[in-house]
Amino acid sequence: MIELIDIAYVRSGAQDIDKCVGFARDIVGMKYQGSDQGVHYLRADHRHHCLAFVEGESGVLSSGLVLRDAKALTDAAAHLESIGIPVHQGTVEEARSRRVTDFISFDDPWGNKFDLVIGQVQDPSFLELTRPSSGITEFGHICVDAADIYAAAKFWNDNFNVKVSDWVQGAAALMRFNPIHHTLAVFQGDEPGLCHINFQVDTIDAIFRNWNFIKEHNVEIEQGPGRHPQSTAIFLYFKGPEGLTYEYSYGVRLIEDEDAWVPRTFDPTMFGAIDMWGGSSQKPSILKHTLTTDNDTDAESVRNLTANTDNARV
Ligand SMILES: [Fe+2]
Repeated sequence: MIELIDIAYVRSGAQDIDKCVGFARDIVGMKYQGSDQGVHYLRADHRHHCLAFVEGESGVLSSGLVLRDAKALTDAAAHLESIGIPVHQGTVEEARSRRVTDFISFDDPWGNKFDLVIGQVQDPSFLELTRPSSGITEFGHICVDAADIYAAAKFWNDNFNVKVSDWVQGAAALMRFNPIHHTLAVFQGDEPGLCHINFQVDTIDAIFRNWNFIKEHNVEIEQGPGRHPQSTAIFLYFKGPEGLTYEYSYGVRLIEDEDAWVPRTFDPTMFGAIDMWGGSSQKPSILKHTLTTDNDTDAESVRNLTANTDNARV
C-alpha cells in the first residue's frame, strides 16, 4: 500500500510561455517564482510551487503526489513494479527541476503520468499573491481523466491509501486520502489528461469577486459559479491558455468520521447532481498529455509505458 501524504504540483508544457505564465500570475493571481532552465514556477501556498510551466509542447507532463520519506519512495517503486507498472527513477537534475529531494514517475493504467515525490521544497516567505483579491489559500486538488472511472478508482483503492468519497455515476470518482472530501479525482474521458487544477479560496466573496474579475478580462467560464452537492464546495471553472482549466472553490466538505462515511452515488442526468443551483453540468475540458516528456525518455518509450501498463489493470 502506497501512502499519499499530499499533492505537490502540476507540471505542464507551454508553447507560449509568456501567455501561460501571465495568465496564472495576473488572472489566476498566483505568485511568479521565476524560471530556471526553461521551467517557470508559480506559487499559491507554502509549497515552492504548485504549477510549473515547461517551455515546449503544450500539454500536461505530470502531476506530483507527496510520499512520506525515502523508504516510502523505495517501497512505492517496488510495489508498482510488482504489479507490472514501469517506474522511472528521477535523476538529480530532474528532481532539482521539480524542487524535490527525490522522485519516481509512472503512468497509471490509463496513461496519466504521475510523479511520487519526497522533500518538496517549502517557501517560508510571506506569500504575496499577484492578485490578493483572488483569495487563494491553497492548491486544492488534481483531477485526471480515465477511460474507465470504476477501474481507475479500484487502481487507486487497491494500491494507495485512497478511498472514494462519492461517485458521479459513469462520470467521476471523487477520492480522498485525508479528511478533505476529494484531493484526487478521476473523470470519465476517452484520453488521459488533466481535467483541471483547483485552488481553494478564503471566502464565498472571493468566488464572486473572481467571477466578476475574469468576466471583465474576457476569460472563458466553463462552469459556475455553482455548488457541488458531493463536496458542498462553491465552484468556478475557467479556461486558461493552451487548454488548462483552472478552478476556484470554497467550502469543501471534510469527512471526519471515516467509519461512518459511505460513498454516495449521484446521477449526473438529474437536476442539481453537478450543480445544486442548476447551472450547466457540462464537464470542464481536459488538457491532454503531451507525448514529449521532460524525463529522460522519448515519446516512443512513453507510448510503450502506456501500452505495458494495460497488463496492470486491476
Ligand atoms: Fe474540482
